[in-house]
Amino acid sequence: MNNPNNHETNKTPGGTTPVRQNLADRAASTSPRPTGANPQARRPLTNEERRRMEAARQAAMRNGGAVASATTQAKPQTTAQRPQTTATRPQGTAQRPQATVQKTQATVQRPQSAQKPVTQTQKPRPTAAPVKSTPVQESSLYRKFTADEEEIFEIYEDEEYSRDYQNNEPRRNNTTSKKRKRAKINWGIIIFAVILVGVVAFSIRYLNNNPHTPGPEMPNLGETDGEVLPPDTSETPDTDDITATEPPETEPPVTLPSHFTVTVPHTDLDVGNQILVNYAHPYARVDTVNLTNVRANKDSDLQVSSINDALAPSAFAALDKMTADMREAGCGDWLLLTSGYRDTTEQQQIWDRNLAQSGEEYTRMYVATPGHSEHHTGLAADLSFFTYDYASIPVADHDFGPWLWNNCADYGFILRYQADKTELTHTAYEAWHFRYIGVPHAYAVNALDYCYEEYIDYIRGYTATTKLFHVKSDRTTAAVAAEDANQVKDGWLIYYVPAGEGETTDILFPFEEGSVEYEISGNNADGFIVTITPKSNT
Ligand code: DAL
Ligand code: ZN
Repeated sequence: MNNPNNHETNKTPGGTTPVRQNLADRAASTSPRPTGANPQARRPLTNEERRRMEAARQAAMRNGGAVASATTQAKPQTTAQRPQTTATRPQGTAQRPQATVQKTQATVQRPQSAQKPVTQTQKPRPTAAPVKSTPVQESSLYRKFTADEEEIFEIYEDEEYSRDYQNNEPRRNNTTSKKRKRAKINWGIIIFAVILVGVVAFSIRYLNNNPHTPGPEMPNLGETDGEVLPPDTSETPDTDDITATEPPETEPPVTLPSHFTVTVPHTDLDVGNQILVNYAHPYARVDTVNLTNVRANKDSDLQVSSINDALAPSAFAALDKMTADMREAGCGDWLLLTSGYRDTTEQQQIWDRNLAQSGEEYTRMYVATPGHSEHHTGLAADLSFFTYDYASIPVADHDFGPWLWNNCADYGFILRYQADKTELTHTAYEAWHFRYIGVPHAYAVNALDYCYEEYIDYIRGYTATTKLFHVKSDRTTAAVAAEDANQVKDGWLIYYVPAGEGETTDILFPFEEGSVEYEISGNNADGFIVTITPKSNT
């Protein structure tokens, strides 16, 4: 009938004198004993006194140890453990409680204010509902101790304390108490350290994302007269771990000596000489691309296989010039454009013919699937040599073949499908397929020994606010810090601008407006490639 959640049953029934709450509570408590208690300094209790005290303790246990807890909370868990503890005691002490039960009422009660482990009864109890109480109820349960009772009680309590811990667990002397206390302190230190580390980590992260704080890899642009630019969302090359899995929302502002911006629509992502077209990147403008008819516009003796052969204007001009220079260099045969621009219908016809003649494996390696051919752009040219007796000689078999390979970059062409890059291009080696990408890019691709897929990836590491890719006139390359870009007078500077959200992207130029010529091209993937030509190099 001892329901610890019931306020009424927590009182001593029938108006009997309540026993000390802490006799039972303390046995289950883990609180260390106050250091002032010293059983050896007390007189021994008489048997009668001890019986009275024991009876009081038993009564307390029967009452759930909560007789005096009317002002606090019920204690279902701690008090429930107490009977089990006493049940396991050695036989030598088992007889004491039974002999004293009936004397409980006459012995001990104590105002709650005199109880030592006060804080113990104030601990929240997870499973017990709070017990309502009033000061009136509390005071009615207690009477004041006599001096004798106080002394008896102190002695008894000390004895109980020692006996309990001798029988049930290692005795808690001052040394072990200190160790426990120290252990608690150490846990506190550990928790504090963990919190501190968290705060520091958060601070580092915050500072790195804070637009007022320089990032880890951003160039220190120093104090200049330049304007502070808004944060740029472009990728920074070589930026390491902190934001690797979670890109920063903003980058630190960059102070540039000068700059200007040009806004481009995202519909131009597939427009320009640097677009990447391959197995993974189809070309959507195949039917609307701007073209130049070769036969009708050429100045050189460039030959065509059809009067309709056409190229993109940039590729056409470059090929026309290259043809003339090759002839000037001593080539006795003409250069023949065997295939320039193709629409998807023509590409499908080539695919089907090769499939029928040579099988699927061969066709996949030598013919792009319709929609994925560079020939759709007008920027690709298949070449051969044409003789006076109307023979077509492959580039790989002609004496001037190496001249083409070695000099085509001077006209902005690369040999697109190299033998050692087939895994990246998904295309077999083609000695005849030249792709126009522009002179500095052709120099760079050759200098880096990259295929175009690799190059497009590589350029993403250069941005207007970090470093620019410098292609020098001697075909060597270097990186230039963004704030130094306006000092470059030779060659070209190249960088990447990722397409932002929305329908347009602001292209940032880290130069004084009017001091450079520039070309913007989409990469047919995710951004724009900017090519800068200093005016001193034009
Ligand atoms: N021969 C190249 C891969 C093309 O068909 O576009
Ligand atoms: Zn081709």
